[in-house]
Amino acid sequence: MIDGKTRTCGLIGNPVEHTMSPIIHNTLAKMCGHNLVYVPFPVEEGKVEEAVKGAYALNILGMNVTVPYKSEVLGSLVEVDELAAKIGAVNTLVRTEGGYKGYNTDITGLHRAMMSEDIRMEGEEILLLGAGGASRAAAYLCGAQKAKKVYLLNRTIEKAQRLTEEVNEAFQREIFEPMLLSDFPKLPERKFLAIQGTSVGLAPHDGEAVIEDAAFYRRIHTGFDLIYKPFDTRFMQLVREAGGKAYNGLKMLLYQGIIAYELWNQVEISENDASLVYEKMRQTMGV
Ligand code: ATR
Repeated sequence: MIDGKTRTCGLIGNPVEHTMSPIIHNTLAKMCGHNLVYVPFPVEEGKVEEAVKGAYALNILGMNVTVPYKSEVLGSLVEVDELAAKIGAVNTLVRTEGGYKGYNTDITGLHRAMMSEDIRMEGEEILLLGAGGASRAAAYLCGAQKAKKVYLLNRTIEKAQRLTEEVNEAFQREIFEPMLLSDFPKLPERKFLAIQGTSVGLAPHDGEAVIEDAAFYRRIHTGFDLIYKPFDTRFMQLVREAGGKAYNGLKMLLYQGIIAYELWNQVEISENDASLVYEKMRQTMGV
């Protein structure tokens, strides 16, 4: 029940109508017995600074930040976590003395999602498809987790080159190598972990994959699609048809929320509780 002691957390972004975050956080609050509500706050362009100041003044405990404000919000924070500062994007604000501290739980959430499926990046050779925002977060995780080598495949080579230079510089190692998607036959003859970070296959364009050629999928032992809508993407189907294991991005979404909730409330959410929230998310999606 909402009463005089209820704490508030929320999401700022534009648009926010289709977010699953209220499901994640309100389910967690109920499970933990916390008197907390989580609500979406649509914020108009140019109003981010005001929104963050207002949130602090209203004693809001924590905020998530989504598109298009993940970088812009940095200017309104009193402190930024090291990895979030490196990537220059935050999705979680935690109330501290005098203002909010920013974190990037998209990256740590992807890590925890991969750990939960026993997927390791350390020492691995990885194929990363795409060079947009989602792939950029995955690229920083590959660097932070000490991947041996990452081939960054993109339709537009210039974007792959730019991201490659940025992350090689950020980690001070020549781990990343740019490649055109169509050049995949030039990859070394071995099996890779592949992370699908392009927007191809995203609903309502279900049934599309960025590469269709079965020869590509025979090089993949594990395929992780950052897309979760549809629940079973064409990329995942192609990975499985070629004998690999395939995962979608719903657990990344789950764990970015769980880590934010843990930061706000200084609790640890068990794997058992995480799976209950995951079931609730699946129910909401009807999958
Ligand atoms: P997001 O923030 O979801 O990553 P984005 O920044 O627009 O979105 O990036 C979309 C990614 O999907 C890019 O890597 C894009 O390739 P380009 O850099 O060549 O544009 C990729 N992408 C989108 N549509 C594509 C298509 N039809 N074929 C191949 N790649 C595509």
